[in-house]
Amino acid sequence: MSTSNLSQDISSLSTAEKRQLIKKLISQRATDLHNCDLSNLETFFSQLLGNSKDIPPEYYNFSLYPDYRKLIEQIQGMKDIGAFNPYFTMHDGLNNHITVINGQEFINYSSYNYIGLSGDPRVSAFAQEAISHFGTSVSASRIVSGERPLHRKLETELAKFIGTEDCIVYVGGHSTNVTTIGHLFGEDDLIIHDALIHNSALEGCKLSGAKRISFPHNNWEELDRILQERRHKYKRVLLVIEGIYSMDGDIPDLPKFIEIKKHHKTFLMVDEAHSIGVLGEHGRGIGEYFGINPADVDLWMGTLSKSFASCGGYIAGCKALVEYLKYSAPGFVYSVGMSPPNAAAALAAINVLKSERERVKCLYQRSKLFLELASQKGLNTGMSRNTPIVPVILGNSQQCIQLSQLLFEQGINVRPIIYPAVPDKEARLRFFITSTHTEEQIRFTVNTVAEKLTQTKAY
Ligand SMILES: Cc1ncc(COP(=O)(O)O)c(C=O)c1O
Repeated sequence: MSTSNLSQDISSLSTAEKRQLIKKLISQRATDLHNCDLSNLETFFSQLLGNSKDIPPEYYNFSLYPDYRKLIEQIQGMKDIGAFNPYFTMHDGLNNHITVINGQEFINYSSYNYIGLSGDPRVSAFAQEAISHFGTSVSASRIVSGERPLHRKLETELAKFIGTEDCIVYVGGHSTNVTTIGHLFGEDDLIIHDALIHNSALEGCKLSGAKRISFPHNNWEELDRILQERRHKYKRVLLVIEGIYSMDGDIPDLPKFIEIKKHHKTFLMVDEAHSIGVLGEHGRGIGEYFGINPADVDLWMGTLSKSFASCGGYIAGCKALVEYLKYSAPGFVYSVGMSPPNAAAALAAINVLKSERERVKCLYQRSKLFLELASQKGLNTGMSRNTPIVPVILGNSQQCIQLSQLLFEQGINVRPIIYPAVPDKEARLRFFITSTHTEEQIRFTVNTVAEKLTQTKAY
């Protein structure tokens, strides 16, 4: 905007608007005026006038959004080196140990269907029955008029399964963490989490406004030290860890974390997205794996989208916690209740798991076999132990994409985890084992990975 434009702008104002502008100028605090860039009087006045002419287009046009432009460049970069886009692969049917992509069958390692219950005929039939009876949506928040018997049944079953007084289910796993952490903690509080904690917990921390600190992965000694130094400065303190870490497939020393939480009088939250239905003799999770008292963890969080063959999340804990969340957590109160087929599927999955615990045993055996064979072949499987998540770390994003492409050509579907999801030197292929993988499939896969790795090159 030129100076003449500016004077035109000002002279076109009505008397009342001119008065308003002078008032604004007078009321502008001295400190604000010091910070203003007065070398550009046009912008200064145009901002005061509420003039939108100088707003750059990237502020109101998504296709010019700088982060979007960066993303487009990255996708183009992959195309330029002839790499296939490993994202949004279209699967034609069930995502289990086998999947069909573009009509071709693959041995599949990109599914969280750990104990094979998504696609189980009993689980599907119960979901269909729920649709016949209740429809596909409950069409309201549960607190308003969305409550159905399936919701309470599912919560009661989950609480019994985990060993807590009660449980609340939410429509999304990610949103369970965001809304629960975001709601329960505030400015006067401190949240300390493992450095590898899932994004959903981080988003919850942000929303809460609490002070956030991370401790090095699984390092309870460092956590103890942080608490020693800082506990007394805050009101409530929440510690957040996972039952199995989804990038590395390792398990934290839960009894140590419980000791620390008791000593420093904090809350402890365990995200069991990947450990419920997986760890412990009956699949009851990390609590059963270590034989601890479930009441020693304040918030047991889990998702229904993995072992429980559905969609949604839960918080299991004491009655007071669950009751408070049900009447006040925004992601519950202001969101629709879980859909009937989703609630029914999770309920049926828990019942099948309770009667067929050999699924958990089989999952453990298959995972152990994969890890042992991979070690024999000299593959770097990082920290993975006793879990169905086995990374093969290559330490180079391009090489990961290349290897995943070569494996795809051999009928093996495994996804690369590359920068920026992990630092480039930790780029990896991440194998999710399910109880339905056969030993032959696992042997074939590990042999093929070792063989094809020699055909890739580090960039
Ligand atoms: C540790 C962890 N927590 C929470 C979530 C979110 O769960 P959902 O995908 O069911 O929303 C995930 C998703 O993979 C996860 O890995």
